[in-house]
Amino acid sequence: MSQKKFSTRIISERFNKKDVHGAIAMPVYRNAAFEFPDSESIAAAFQYKEEIASHTYTRITNPSVENLELKIKVASGADNVMTVASGMAAISNTFLSIAYAGSNIVTSPHLFGNTFSLFKFTLAAFGVEVRFVNTDNPEEIASAIDGNTCAFFCELITNPHMEIADLPEISKILKARNVPMIVDTTIIPWCGFNAKKAGADIEIVSTTKYISGGATSIGGAILDYGTFDWSHNKRLQSVNKTGDLSRFSFKLKREIARNIGAAMDPDTAYMQALGMETLQLRFERVSSSAFELAQFLEGLEKVKKVGYTKLTSSPYKNISDKLFIGNPGAMLTFSLNSKEDCYRFMDKLDVIRRATNLFDNKTLIIHPESTIYGTFTPEMKKVMGIEDNLLRLSVGLEDVEDLKQDILQALEK
Ligand SMILES: Cc1ncc(COP(=O)(O)O)c(C=O)c1O
Repeated sequence: MSQKKFSTRIISERFNKKDVHGAIAMPVYRNAAFEFPDSESIAAAFQYKEEIASHTYTRITNPSVENLELKIKVASGADNVMTVASGMAAISNTFLSIAYAGSNIVTSPHLFGNTFSLFKFTLAAFGVEVRFVNTDNPEEIASAIDGNTCAFFCELITNPHMEIADLPEISKILKARNVPMIVDTTIIPWCGFNAKKAGADIEIVSTTKYISGGATSIGGAILDYGTFDWSHNKRLQSVNKTGDLSRFSFKLKREIARNIGAAMDPDTAYMQALGMETLQLRFERVSSSAFELAQFLEGLEKVKKVGYTKLTSSPYKNISDKLFIGNPGAMLTFSLNSKEDCYRFMDKLDVIRRATNLFDNKTLIIHPESTIYGTFTPEMKKVMGIEDNLLRLSVGLEDVEDLKQDILQALEK
């Protein structure tokens, strides 16, 4: 990675191929197809025989999309980045590349609802088992792993539980057993956390959140740090790869992603590349407001519990201080007395919006139990650790004093 600082790296990075008009921002290439001068050159492009790969068809690659991937690469230091249509497409494409009938995924049950459902129901139909463990217990992780474990997966920070797995410690267990670590870091972007240093081999991000630049669009990214030897994976052993791509990225890019077809849209890539340029600026502001609000909420009588890993009351404070640069993001949770109190409070809010997303410019609130997890059975909700008196707040760019006032008036009414 270059020695330049985070925002400078992203803003000063030039395109792989100069734009013909010298455009300073990569234009939106909305076209589906790309023309070649002759049969030899189109064949060379399809057979990966060119020195700098040409674009052939937008489902496969596109200049605007490639520009976003380049910005993510310089921001994160990943060897390879692939962007796709959503965060869920990033998770499903990743597991479709490494899982096989008879394989298993070791993970916490404390997952984003659709990820839980993907593992528990969708992949299960294809013979992939999910093994839920307590990620705070390294022995449980070690004993869940066997020769068919295709990955250890976790979210950092868990949403909405606000837990942090000790990745450097877990990484030691995984390395000894040749199991890759895959981490969904949607909740904490690259300026706040270095996933590779913490031991992640593959990082997954819903770019819908911090990256999109204010909830402009849906997207996802898969980052390959090139740190895992994929010949340990029974499915990838036979990948006959060429070039610099790892077996994983080769499988993902050359087969899985193009067959699944959940490609990132070039308009989205344009907006998210702009979002990347202001990422650090926005992150610093929203995460500092989040910390201030977390402390403020802790001082309110009607608030039972606050979840924010920088608070001294958090059991994850030490690991949070160890892993994160600055404040640990803009998501926090808090509990009121009951579900009814949560509803009453939410309905009285004025500045804070009732909506499901994270890291919009606007502050958003949601009651996870009745929405994101609303269709799961009570037993499943118990397994997933979802409580009905919990609210999730994603802090935006409004003045923090106005947010405090909004909370106070809604609690007091
Ligand atoms: C931690 C986490 N991972 C993945 C996703 C899915 O992202 P997307 O909505 O872009 O598919 C979300 C969505 O909220 C999330 O919070």
